[in-house]
Amino acid sequence: MSSRNTAEKVAEDYYDSTDADTFYERVWGGEDIHIGLYDEGLSIHDASRKTVELMATTLLTLNNDSRVLDLGSGYGGSARYLAKKYGCQVTCLNLSDVQNARNRSLCQEQGVSDKVSVLHGSFESIPCGAEEFDIVWSQDAFLHSGHKKTVLEEVNRVLKPGGELIFTDPMQSDDCPADVLQPVYDRLNLDSLGSFGFYKKHLEISGLTEENALPMTSQLRTHYSEVANELKGRYDQLTETISAEYMDRMLLGLQNWVSAADSGYLAWGVLHYVKPDV
Ligand SMILES: C[S@@+](CC[C@H](N)C(=O)[O-])C[C@H]1O[C@@H](n2cnc3c(N)ncnc32)[C@H](O)[C@@H]1O
Repeated sequence: MSSRNTAEKVAEDYYDSTDADTFYERVWGGEDIHIGLYDEGLSIHDASRKTVELMATTLLTLNNDSRVLDLGSGYGGSARYLAKKYGCQVTCLNLSDVQNARNRSLCQEQGVSDKVSVLHGSFESIPCGAEEFDIVWSQDAFLHSGHKKTVLEEVNRVLKPGGELIFTDPMQSDDCPADVLQPVYDRLNLDSLGSFGFYKKHLEISGLTEENALPMTSQLRTHYSEVANELKGRYDQLTETISAEYMDRMLLGLQNWVSAADSGYLAWGVLHYVKPDV
């Protein structure tokens, strides 16, 4: 644990905290904690599930023989969905022990413990061998890394030739001026986010080829404002289980994301790459 860098420690302490754990369970839906795809009237839970469905159907090779690695897997909602719907084996890698414990018990309850395994660790140093996985999957997790190029090299290392990477990430726009996202960076203890251009450049340097990059930035704005509204609406009731300090900080953080999205400096979408089968 002592070898963790600052951004890793910030993420680990944050997601291990009781306030965050309770917030993600009560407000965000408890299984999926990523940006959703909103049609009129969809709940946070249902919109979040739609993102998982879109990613799964985008993949070219997903089937019951696939070995999938989910990086920054949270409570494992996507892993269970993939295991149940496609019958594949999913390895979850995540920094938060608190989330991993809930992930394991949800897998037990939902009868997929034989298909989903949960590892504690960082995607900056993936504790798995070379060319072990057919698919590397990640949702809204790479933003937490201060060493994204290392993460992409690790992804390339663990993917089999012909394997696929699919991920989403809250990013900055390619033309984002320096410093305008400082309030967002400060919360994550970072000095930049990825961007579509950053990922394209560094994934291609790592040897992966782009299959598709689908920008859906308006969903990020919708999602963060839906979560803020939900939190505001239930604030009084939630003070029994989540500290007011946490909720106030969260509301400010969500407002920072919404304002940055309104200014045109954020980006979000699904990125899909393939490792050439040489
Ligand atoms: C917004 S949550 C998304 C969780 C999950 N992917 C989902 O969609 O429900 C971000 C996740 O990234 C994980 N994370 C952050 N930094 C990480 C790192 N260096 N290695 C592994 N996991 C990390 C956190 O523990 C958290 O579960």
